[in-house]
Amino acid sequence: MAVPFTLEVKALSKSFGATQALKDVSLTVQSGLVHALIGENGAGKSTLVKILKGDLAPDGGSSSGTEPPSAPGPVERTAPGWP
Ligand SMILES: Nc1ncnc2c1ncn2[C@@H]1O[C@H](COP(=O)(O)OP(=O)(O)O)[C@@H](O)[C@H]1O
Ligand SMILES: [Mg+2]
Repeated sequence: MAVPFTLEVKALSKSFGATQALKDVSLTVQSGLVHALIGENGAGKSTLVKILKGDLAPDGGSSSGTEPPSAPGPVERTAPGWP
């Protein structure tokens, strides 16, 4: 049986110059559940996923969670200094 995994993301923000791509984004991701990330073009979906992957650092916010055994990485992150 798979080890349960939970990721808690709090108050993420990210700007590209004058463009605020993410503002105060919080969510919880849980293993065993299907999650949908929905928004129009430019809503910030790709930016959010890039931050969660660790490809981009947010301007502010934090994440914490239990570590997925298949994708070891930091259990806690706080901007700046992400990932
Ligand atoms: N590397 C970047 N440089 C400048 N602006 C960006 C960059 N990446 C995304 N943006 C801007 O941030 C906003 C959110 O983009 P994005 O996350 O790609 O949205 P989505 O994936 O929901 O379509 C858009 O206004 C987009 O133009
Ligand atoms: Mg996109």
